[in-house]
Amino acid sequence: VHSDLSQEKQRILANTYTFVKQELSGETSGHDWWHIHRVVQMARRLALAEGADDYICTMAALLHDIADEKLNPSKEVGMQRVNDWLDRQHVQTEDREQITYIIANMSYNGGNNPPLPTIEGKVVQDADRLDAIGAIAIARTFVYAGHVGDMMYDPDLPVREQMSAEEYRNGRSTAINHFHEKLLKLKNRINTPSARQIAEERHQYMEQYVQRFYEEWEGR
Ligand code: ADP
Ligand code: NI
Repeated sequence: VHSDLSQEKQRILANTYTFVKQELSGETSGHDWWHIHRVVQMARRLALAEGADDYICTMAALLHDIADEKLNPSKEVGMQRVNDWLDRQHVQTEDREQITYIIANMSYNGGNNPPLPTIEGKVVQDADRLDAIGAIAIARTFVYAGHVGDMMYDPDLPVREQMSAEEYRNGRSTAINHFHEKLLKLKNRINTPSARQIAEERHQYMEQYVQRFYEEWEGR
């Protein structure tokens, strides 16, 4: 419910909800509609706490994975899908620029992207990252590994410490290595104080999980 927004913006939000739900509901790589749903809820919670614009944050959160490289032939094709949608909904030029800027620049990209400049960007990026830290993140990571045919763990495959955007995209990994290559690093890349608090707790839980995984692996 966004009851304080104009009729026009409420219409755009409602249509975008339906559109994204339809587009991503069959997705099985961990970027499905329910991921979007969680990111939207978290983005709105953070937006309220941080004084960011609710409409921009919700729209960017809703559309952020419609453009994802992993779900499209290329990043450009993905961004075109977002632009076409905003066009069809007659989103105001200024809002549109804000939304597409966030979506095009928010991804982790192997840690190679700089933090986003606007508070709305920071909020949406944090919301997406919080879904990659904690209990649900653990599940998503194993689902993703299964989806692309990676193993859950292989002690012979070393953790890649520093990666270019290219290596991050194309190199093979395992679910457990992904914790070290990305997930356990996210806590230090959170933008806003409200998100940092949540990240801190979820991070601890994830760290304990990885610890126990290794203990059981060793037969302890
Ligand atoms: P972003 O949304 O920041 O671009 P990704 O789409 O790359 O991040 O990743 C989203 C989630 O998908 C990760 O948090 C993780 O759970 C899962 N994932 C991505 N890449 C891998 C991988 N190589 N191995 C296991 N899980 C992955
Ligand atoms: Ni996402």
